[in-house]
Amino acid sequence: MKINKTVYLPFFIISIILAYSQTAGALHILTPVEQLGKSIFFDKNLSINKNQACASCHDPATGWTGPDAEINAHGAVYQGSVSTRFGERKPPSAAYAAASPIMYYERKDELFIGGSFWDGRATGEKLGNAAADQAQDPFLNPVEHGFADPACVVFRVCNADYKYSLEKVYPGECDIQWPLGLDVNKACGASEALTLPVNVRQKINQSFNAIALAIAAYEASPEVNPYSSKFDYFLKGETELSIEEKAGFDLFNGKGKCSKCHISDGRKPLFTDFTYDNLGVPANPENPVYKINADYIDTGLGGFLEKPETSGEWQKLAKGNMGKHKVPTLRNIDKRTSSKFVKAYMHNGYFKTLKGVVHFYNTRDIKPACPGLYTEEKALAENCWPGPEVKANLNSEELGDLKLTDKEEELIVAFMETLSDGFFSTEKK
Ligand code: HEC
Ligand code: HEC
Repeated sequence: MKINKTVYLPFFIISIILAYSQTAGALHILTPVEQLGKSIFFDKNLSINKNQACASCHDPATGWTGPDAEINAHGAVYQGSVSTRFGERKPPSAAYAAASPIMYYERKDELFIGGSFWDGRATGEKLGNAAADQAQDPFLNPVEHGFADPACVVFRVCNADYKYSLEKVYPGECDIQWPLGLDVNKACGASEALTLPVNVRQKINQSFNAIALAIAAYEASPEVNPYSSKFDYFLKGETELSIEEKAGFDLFNGKGKCSKCHISDGRKPLFTDFTYDNLGVPANPENPVYKINADYIDTGLGGFLEKPETSGEWQKLAKGNMGKHKVPTLRNIDKRTSSKFVKAYMHNGYFKTLKGVVHFYNTRDIKPACPGLYTEEKALAENCWPGPEVKANLNSEELGDLKLTDKEEELIVAFMETLSDGFFSTEKK
């Protein structure tokens, strides 16, 4: 039947609007503070060479993680604003991460819970919010945005033309008496901190906190956490999972033991319990860090706890937490721009395929050790696994020999593929 455009157009527009509103996020009106956080998150000007935003390493199109398939396929760590500098870890998703509580130690189960970063070092104690503590770090990290001074971030945010500016959202925060004769823009291109009077410094610290809290507010907003995956519609009874996806979900919760850490129950599961574990992930031989330090070992949470600035009580627990990394969300784990786009998994990006990840959980303890630091591809081809990056504190109770068949591994992958946001608008039957 030929549709009569004039009659159907209004109806058509209304149904599009309805479909969009269902994808949540899409029609969510951000509050002014969330809007400010969003502008900051996507602003490349807030880096030493004006070439890097948070989104450069946390792109919504690839599940709020690294957007460069070539990098993901190899070292999986991203260049900073200064192109010769690299971090040594893979960017985790910046979505569904803001729910992580302020880090605490649960005595009963002897577990650290909460905090931000793979190693939890942004505990949330400073600003009362782990995501906000985290958000201050990249700006000053030499291998990320690269500023030597928070004053530079504050200066550029205060001079940006955001619709919801810092001054508008938090009146007074940009009322800063910059010393006469100081060319802040020029000084911020250098690698030294600015010399500022104490009262100006205090003011800047306060504004820098406001900036971090705005980013955290955006990261906690429905736009970043839309819960609009096929799985979410399934939970609401608005779509069905295929037989394979359903079987995968059952394995995820049962024989695969995945939900013991990637919590899957409740109405809006986050697929993490914000605890830490050492899965025995092999070192990623392509990580550029080894060119600088061949003996580099990522000790994760234990490495953070061990630091002199950590409280004495926690320091004592460092040894028992070496090699542990935070359980990441699995939401958007398969979100990619095309089926060929390579993503990297785990703190060091060792894995490039979800099948490889599941196969590792399934067979870590039953395959022979590879004779060298093999990549995932080579290890799969040679039917071996390289030893763990950190041998201590290996979790052998919940993984290693799951006795899943090849088909069952595939089903678990099929289930994880239902966790990508933006399902409703394109695929709902
Ligand atoms: C050069 C790439 C890069 C840039 C730029 C960058 N990040 Fe990240 N991000 C990372 C890496 C790598 C990690 C993990 C680092 C670690 O755990 O030590 C990370 C971790 C995070 C996490 C922790 C998530 C979790 O579950 O623990 C959040 C949230 C985040 N970044 C947000 C941001 C924000 C906000 C900005 C901008 C202010 C930003 N990132 C800029 C690479 C980047
Ligand atoms: C004992 C807790 C635990 C169990 C059980 C577990 N995971 Fe994980 N998972 C983790 C931790 C911790 C990490 C991060 C480890 C690292 O980077 O070293 C992780 C990482 C992942 C990642 C990579 C995420 C990313 O952003 O890079 C995937 C995918 C994953 N798990 C899927 C699964 C599946 C599928 C199962 C079941 C077969 C499972 N996990 C069982 C704790 C667990």
